[in-house]
Amino acid sequence: MEAKSPNTIYLKDYKEPAFLVNTIDLNVALDADLTKVKSTLGIMRNPKMPEQKSLVLQGDALTLNEIQLNGTPLTPADYTLSNNELIIKDAPEEFSLMIETQFSPRENTTLNGLYLSGDILCTQCEAEGFRRITYFPDRPDVMSLYTTTIIADKQKYPVLLSNGNLIDSGLLGDGKHWVKWQDPYRKPSYLFALVAGNLGCAEDSFVTRSGRSVALKVYVEPGNEVNCTYALQSLKNAMRWDELRFGRGYDLDTYMIVAVSDFNMGAMENKGLNIFNAKYILANPAIATDQDYEFIEAVIAHEYFHNWTGNRVTCRDWFQLSLKEGLTIFREHEFCADQQSREVERIKNVRKLRLEQFPQDEGPMAHPVRPDSYIEINNFYTVTIYEKGAEVIRMLQTMLGRDTFRQGMDIYFARHDGHAVTIEDFVQAMEAASGRDLTQFRRWYTQAGTPELYVTSNYDSANCRYTLRLEQVCPPTPMQTSKEPFLIPVTVSLFDLMGQPLPLQMSGSLNEATEQIMEMTQSVQEFQFNNITSYPIPSLLRDFSAPVKLRYPYTTQDLLVLMRHDTDSFNRWEAVQTIENRLILQLIDEDKSGAALCLPVWFTDAFAENLSVRNQNLQYLALLLALPSDKDLANEMTIILVEPIFKIHKFVKRELATQLKDQWMAIYKEYNDNKPYQFNAIAVGQRSLKNIALSYLMANPTDEIRQLCLRQFVNADNMTDSLAALVCLSQVDCPERVEALNKFYDKWQNEPLVLDKWFAIQAQSHLPNTLEVVKQLITHPKFNWINPNRVRSVIGVFAMLNDINFHALNGDGYAFLADQIIHLDNLNPQVAARLCEPLTRWRRHIPERQALMKKQLFRIMSTPNLSRDVYEIVSKSSG
Ligand code: TRP
Ligand code: ZN
Repeated sequence: MEAKSPNTIYLKDYKEPAFLVNTIDLNVALDADLTKVKSTLGIMRNPKMPEQKSLVLQGDALTLNEIQLNGTPLTPADYTLSNNELIIKDAPEEFSLMIETQFSPRENTTLNGLYLSGDILCTQCEAEGFRRITYFPDRPDVMSLYTTTIIADKQKYPVLLSNGNLIDSGLLGDGKHWVKWQDPYRKPSYLFALVAGNLGCAEDSFVTRSGRSVALKVYVEPGNEVNCTYALQSLKNAMRWDELRFGRGYDLDTYMIVAVSDFNMGAMENKGLNIFNAKYILANPAIATDQDYEFIEAVIAHEYFHNWTGNRVTCRDWFQLSLKEGLTIFREHEFCADQQSREVERIKNVRKLRLEQFPQDEGPMAHPVRPDSYIEINNFYTVTIYEKGAEVIRMLQTMLGRDTFRQGMDIYFARHDGHAVTIEDFVQAMEAASGRDLTQFRRWYTQAGTPELYVTSNYDSANCRYTLRLEQVCPPTPMQTSKEPFLIPVTVSLFDLMGQPLPLQMSGSLNEATEQIMEMTQSVQEFQFNNITSYPIPSLLRDFSAPVKLRYPYTTQDLLVLMRHDTDSFNRWEAVQTIENRLILQLIDEDKSGAALCLPVWFTDAFAENLSVRNQNLQYLALLLALPSDKDLANEMTIILVEPIFKIHKFVKRELATQLKDQWMAIYKEYNDNKPYQFNAIAVGQRSLKNIALSYLMANPTDEIRQLCLRQFVNADNMTDSLAALVCLSQVDCPERVEALNKFYDKWQNEPLVLDKWFAIQAQSHLPNTLEVVKQLITHPKFNWINPNRVRSVIGVFAMLNDINFHALNGDGYAFLADQIIHLDNLNPQVAARLCEPLTRWRRHIPERQALMKKQLFRIMSTPNLSRDVYEIVSKSSG
């Protein structure tokens, strides 16, 4: 375990490496209890850094057995060995270095480096895990050619994998066998992978546009091969898509994926050998929900797209992380939009940004898309790097246009293939393609915080002139008290009162269209539209054209026109959300003043209007009908009022359930057709709509409706419908709830991925005794501290998705979370650090809660031997 250390790493201190490692020859004698690694490095001095004399290698939790330079053993006088570094002073210009280390994979509970997941030995090297395998300059700008020999017991580990191509193999006398893999591409150490185990394999193939056949292999626990069909199909779709959209093909003869049960994140893009959290591979209708299928498609594509954006062109240093992650998320989003429904995909992506990234941007961990400093890099795999990074790329595509953006991508690949580069290199490629100066745009990478965009309008009917006045304000963030204005692309259309789009003529532009991009560059700026012959309603920030908070004083009438007529599906959804957010906040105010709660008739009527428009994408319709969640509402409040949000949200839902009961029942019956499960946009839409109808019906649950819900739970042939019913039942204290939860456990107790859902549903329940239940769940025989999916399904879900119980005013929810973080930090600091997040969000809570949350942050802070991971988050958050 890492000792607590406040060491901060700064981007401004970046220096090229003093030595380059051209080749690395690994010889790994695998054993779960004691693995020995012999690493032979072909090293030469970096000609650009002649003044640096010593070779610095990182190492973590390793025992050094032997070290030889050009075949001669070194003595301790020749090097310095500390906890985390091996330094060789005055190394020659060019030499060979052999290092033998040993360590125990079984004792490695961090799931970082080489570790055991069940009986499978596997690696996770991003960001700094390779140093737990051997001493190495473990930084992404050192790119080497890897040859890996693995020796292991043949019975226990029949399958032995590493990056690239299998070039040789053989048997040894003592029941052992060996294989030799060679990766023909240079790569940084974080992309190294090794897997050993008794694995089944699901195979398929893909023929590239150039006519080459690529073997696709998904390795899983024996018996699970049948559950890889969807993952393989998604992989083929992603491969084809990247050829068509970005002209990028695959570059090895084999693409391997291994699914493991114990994994800190979603998946990892190791060259030619992805390693996945099994959750994002295994699916069949009985065990996976529609949402699981969507995630599998997205994560498979994401890791595949990394082969170009991340592997072929990699990051110079970890401050450039968004270079690969923001860009790859953007590519993933575009792919998913093309595969499923573009309008639905956009809404889901923006909701995630708003619910997770906006709060980060206003909290103590706020950082720019390209951070200036960090203590523990694992803490910077954030929604800001990923999701906001993707939005920044999207703005470039919006402003330059798809074709120019594509040319910029081509230039980026042509210039930097095979190299470790920076975000600056990417922006320069876009400048080269477009001929534009993107100096101001670069502020999106260097300034943290979510800009607020205040818009007002003026219509001069005498002169048919319409003026929009835009003002941008970006609140201060840690280390950044004042900000320069951003370049914000604001896509706009104008609609008349009948909902007809008006032709636009911005002053200075000749072409007429119904949509334009206002490129805002100043703090305050006006945009004029001429020949506007009737009073306009502005549709602003269409398709969410920039990651900002838009504030425009819409009237309810304006919003109803946009809800009915806006041609931008995102803004049509947004209009409904705005109406509902405002209404609920207003009811919260009225309730506080003691007025009787009453849902206005105009609102129920408008809501019912949406309910009846069935000739559209039903998944989109389901999103229109979903009320803003507690979290959405909390986002809209300066000071979050947990109980009033919960109460009024429940009231509105119940009213809509009661007043529109017949309509909900009609929808439910229409789409509850018991057709066999299929995963496609139409079937998903029908299920979403049916299940949202069910959730409204269950908001006012009569005996008859609870029975209906239980029937769906029992009779459904697929996990989507079964789980949707169980979620509804879990929120109601009734005999059907107990019956369903017990049945679910009995059926799925030996299916870990499904059992996670059983744990999560209970941790998410709004019933008042939930904390007690959660405390029981972490002592359940099937609870497992080593498995991050299981830990997250109980502790993570409770702290992140159960506001009413987590934020209990007695502080018990906070104390519980702190206890678990302290416990887990000894086993898995990466996962422990991620669990801290709910406690860091104290700023927007009432003073009582602020005090209780900070008290727990201080308690964690004062725990001895805290990991760097948890230390960084709590120390930055408790001030
Ligand atoms: N590069 C991975 C991705 O985005 C992220 C990842 C997987 C990761 N495992 C990790 C990051 C462990 C940090 C630590 O696809
Ligand atoms: Zn990624």
